[in-house]
This record gives sequence, C-alpha cells and structure tokens, in this order.
Amino acid sequence: MACPLHRSARQAVPGEGSGESGIFFLGEAPGYHEDVQGKPFVGAAGQFLDELLAGIGLDRRKVFITNVVRHRPPENRDPLPDEITACDIWLRRHLEVLRPRVIVTLGRHAMGKFFVGESISRIHGKPRKTADGLVIFPVFHPAAALHQPALRDALVADFAALALFLATAPVPKEAEKKPAEQITLFG
Ligand code: URA
Repeated sequence: MACPLHRSARQAVPGEGSGESGIFFLGEAPGYHEDVQGKPFVGAAGQFLDELLAGIGLDRRKVFITNVVRHRPPENRDPLPDEITACDIWLRRHLEVLRPRVIVTLGRHAMGKFFVGESISRIHGKPRKTADGLVIFPVFHPAAALHQPALRDALVADFAALALFLATAPVPKEAEKKPAEQITLFG
C-alpha cells in the first residue's frame, strides 16, 4: 500500500543526523513542529531527547534520528499498521546506508518493528538482538515520559544503561552485519 499520510502533512520528515557514531534512534511519527520544520524531534519531546542525549555525552549531530512513519498523522493520532509498513522502504534504506551498531527504539511503535507482540515495559533499558543479529535497545518514548515522573525516571535510567552498553559492548565487524533486504521488520 502507498502511504496516504503525505496528503494531510505539510512535508516529509525523513530524518537527520549522522551515521558516524553508529547510533540510530527510531521514534514514532512527526508531530506539529516536526511537520512545520521538516526535522525529527524538534518539539517538546525533542527537547527532552536532546537533554537525555546531552546527559550521556552524546552530540545530537553525531547520531541519526528518524521515525517509523515520515509524515505527520492527522491530529497526531497513532500511525496505523499499514502506514508503518508502507514506510519500511525508508527504514530499510537508512539501515542499509548507515549500518548502525545499535538501534535505540523510542516507544512501543518503534520497538514493535523488531519484537512483535512484546511489551515495552518488560524489555526497555537493555539491549536485545533480533533473529537477524540487529542490536535493538528499546526505551520509553520521551513524549510519554514528559508528563509521567515514573516514566521520566525510567527513561533517564535507560539512557544511563545505554551509555554503559556503548562504553562496554564490542563494536561488530562489517562482515557480521546483514544486508538490509534480509532484515525482518514487522508492521
Ligand atoms: N515524536 C516522535 O515520535 N517523533 C518525532 O519526530 C517527534 C515526536
């Protein structure tokens, strides 16, 4: 299916940043500010993400940030499974080009691309490999954590765990990485 979200959105929000660090952040969908600016995570959730990144010494310009859908859903509703699947071509292309060391999924929609039927409350804050050998680090979504102090604390702790993982886990060799077309993604 071709994704219809572009009809109501102002512009595409393809993602931005760099593959330099090997760290790839995958969020849910552009919101109002992202739709206006054409950049991911530039609203309130983005400010919190910037704080979390700075808190573990990561420069936003050195990581790559994108979403499971690349146009804003109307009224900021959740993206639908078909819309998410239709956007897979871009996720695959990004993974193919950037070949990240770790994919940090922000929220349940991004986690669901790799672990179908899993619960984010159960698996957040620790790295987990997919059957294809991708390393996924699921964390809660910064927007969800903005107004819930318990989630906020959990997200800060997850970023601390991410920093530890980045400092201690061996960096995989190129040859161990799978071609993107062989990567399994779920709706
Ligand atoms: N929330 C997301 O999931 N993505 C954005 O780009 C902004 C807010």
